[in-house]
Amino acid sequence: MDYTTLGRTGLRVSVAGLGCGGFSRLGLSTGGNEASAIGIIHAALDLGVNLLDTAAPYGTEGVVGKALKGVPRDKVVVATKSSVIRGGERWTPERVVASLDNSLRELGIDCIDVFQLHAVPPAGYDYVRDTIAPVLLKQKERGKFRFLGITETAPNDLEHQMLLRAVPDGMWDVAMLAFHMMNQNTREKLFPATLQHRVGTLLMFAVRSIFARADRVAETMRELAAAGKVPRWLADTPDPLGFLIHPGGATSLTDAAYRYVRHEPGVDVVLFGTGDRAHLRSNIESILRPPLPEADRNRLKELFSHLRGVGLIAPSPQPSAAANKGATS
Ligand SMILES: NC(=O)c1ccc[n+]([C@@H]2O[C@H](COP(=O)([O-])OP(=O)(O)OC[C@H]3O[C@@H](n4cnc5c(N)ncnc54)[C@H](OP(=O)(O)O)[C@@H]3O)[C@@H](O)[C@H]2O)c1
Repeated sequence: MDYTTLGRTGLRVSVAGLGCGGFSRLGLSTGGNEASAIGIIHAALDLGVNLLDTAAPYGTEGVVGKALKGVPRDKVVVATKSSVIRGGERWTPERVVASLDNSLRELGIDCIDVFQLHAVPPAGYDYVRDTIAPVLLKQKERGKFRFLGITETAPNDLEHQMLLRAVPDGMWDVAMLAFHMMNQNTREKLFPATLQHRVGTLLMFAVRSIFARADRVAETMRELAAAGKVPRWLADTPDPLGFLIHPGGATSLTDAAYRYVRHEPGVDVVLFGTGDRAHLRSNIESILRPPLPEADRNRLKELFSHLRGVGLIAPSPQPSAAANKGATS
């Protein structure tokens, strides 16, 4: 495993972080059970992952807590989140503090390393900064968490407006943001600011659902070509991103997706979510491999850097996930 420093927090973190939400929720949304989810966490820790990202709405804090029993507390960086604006409703500071207290209980720890406000929309930022953050910073003084973070709502904030305001504000030590091969504007828009202010970054959406499924890539290319947003030839092949896979290049689409984001200046931790042990291992291997060849990166830039909002949401609800109330990613 490679380790890096999470911005100005000074925390030493693995460059691969286990996402405990997303479509898999450690496998709980894809047919797994508590024991297999705990097994995924232990396998990740055994491979050197030391950052776990969960959230109250994921419904995985309890599993993370059980997995952490017996693990020395200083060996793992625990990040979790509270909702703050959900379904248009603004949560009161008391409700957010209650969520923090519940996270501590579920996780079975005395102090959370990174406590994040989840999916904050641009229009809600003033409320979060002026009404919620001051109350939370008092909870931080009481030792309930070490660093405050904030996460963007990528599909609803394509120009990163919320984080562009939050990053210079000084109270957010960590930002969770979206970036991937077909969602590239984070590079010019946001990373210069996070680097300047030394805000630690947790990267979501490297693969999401789009790069885990070749059929979804092909379908997306057909839609984009029909809208005149990508060249026609990308719609006329069943494997439009096949040019990335070659000797000396990526070994698979997910390998390309993880290597693409990992080496971007400004990316500290690449989050990946899985309920599958083989995926866990191969994802970590990909995150540890060298960058994609420069020619491939240039081609991705040329073809896709103008796109916005591609591949950020699931095509349709996954039945097992939709049935589970903890399925919010
Ligand atoms: N703050 C927010 O609003 C927010 C939103 C979304 C996500 N997140 C965070 O980011 C983490 C990552 O979530 P994400 O939405 O980016 O997506 P993700 O959970 O990483 O999704 C990856 C998808 O691809 C599959 N997959 C993973 N590795 C694969 C491989 N090697 N080959 C084929 N399929 C593979 C996974 O299913 P398998 O189980 O089959 O591997 C899963 O369905 C989350 O767990 C969460 O911590 C935060």
